Amino acid sequence: MRAAVIAGLGGYVPPNLVTNADLTARLDTSDEWIRSRTGIASRHVVSPGTATSDLAVEAGRRALESSGASEADALVLATTTPDHPCPATAPDVAARLGLGPVAALDISAVCSGFLYGLAVSAGLIAAGTAERVLLVGADAFTTIVDPEDRGVAVIFADGAGAVVLRAGEPDEPGAVGPVVLGSDGEHRHLIQVPAGGSRQPSAGVAPAPGDRFFRMRGRETYRHAVDRMTAVSRDALVRAGWQVEDVDRLAAHQANARILGTVADELGVPPERRLSNIEQVGNTAAASVPLLLAQAAAEGELTEGMRVLLTAFGGGLAWGATTVRWPRLGPLTAPDRPGAEVPVPGMRPASSIRSTR
Ligand code: ACO
Repeated sequence: MRAAVIAGLGGYVPPNLVTNADLTARLDTSDEWIRSRTGIASRHVVSPGTATSDLAVEAGRRALESSGASEADALVLATTTPDHPCPATAPDVAARLGLGPVAALDISAVCSGFLYGLAVSAGLIAAGTAERVLLVGADAFTTIVDPEDRGVAVIFADGAGAVVLRAGEPDEPGAVGPVVLGSDGEHRHLIQVPAGGSRQPSAGVAPAPGDRFFRMRGRETYRHAVDRMTAVSRDALVRAGWQVEDVDRLAAHQANARILGTVADELGVPPERRLSNIEQVGNTAAASVPLLLAQAAAEGELTEGMRVLLTAFGGGLAWGATTVRWPRLGPLTAPDRPGAEVPVPGMRPASSIRSTR
């Protein structure tokens, strides 16, 4: 069967940097609490008028550049924060990247969106529907975060990461291994934006202002995140025929440094084999895993031949894991290098979280 092979990679974070000091200036929190409970020191946040598609276009452009070709015949966008409730954001991203009239769809699996996107993209390739897929994970997550909710405002941030996947052989470097996915809708209430969908539509009775914001029951979610990422990672290793000792790098969703540490400890992946950028970028939801890969590869932390275990967990609940033997890639741009992100004049501010710098 044809495999999906990683042929390009790109990441992007918006330039506006928000430090813990910026947050402590307006929230009842402290640098010590944020660092010790989450591992986050700073995060990048969109400027007023910048939307998810703007981040996705920049990351997608960088991934295409690194692949050495500007084409793809499908675009899959994993996001929690589409530009609009309708239509999907993917067609706009495809058009702005000059991909032409290609297949384009959004995937809604919150922080696991990139893993779900890998499975969907690999399926498009295996079925012969596409030869090259541009898969983007992007979230302007702060646009749905209540800036006054200290339980989430210190954690979530914005960014995008993208891979180009081409048709290839299962045993070649870069081939995406078996993707294991799962969900648990009985716990959907742990992570939710209550209003704005068909359950509590925007039309008719106006929702309570707080219902438009993202809510997370952090303490309960924590346990699920650890259990699910550990179990699904073990399943993915078995499906790939790898032992945990074979894993050169663990690239897990950057939800919380303590969660990452516990998952890695339970799996038996030693500290020097764990990739992490949560300290600098926070939790960027659907962008988290590809942004981590892009940053690690740009900094030389991920090199050709390494065996990489990817895993993610998030709202739904939904989770996933897969394996990749890292390929040789073209030149990579550091995700924090400025891009062509252009806020649209006259748009409503995306968030009241602002850097004081
Ligand atoms: N500053 C200071 N105190 C705070 C803050 C803050 N920013 N936020 C919460 N607190 C307080 C709470 O009010 C609570 O006070 P209390 O004991 O008086 O009630 C206390 O700190 C402890 O709160 P907990 O929620 O128990 O803190 P915890 O150590 O669990 O950390 C966190 C909270 C960081 C949210 C953690 O629970 C977590 O990371 N959960 C999992 C997140 C996750 O994996 N989400 C899924 C992926 S994301 C997605 O899908 C979109």
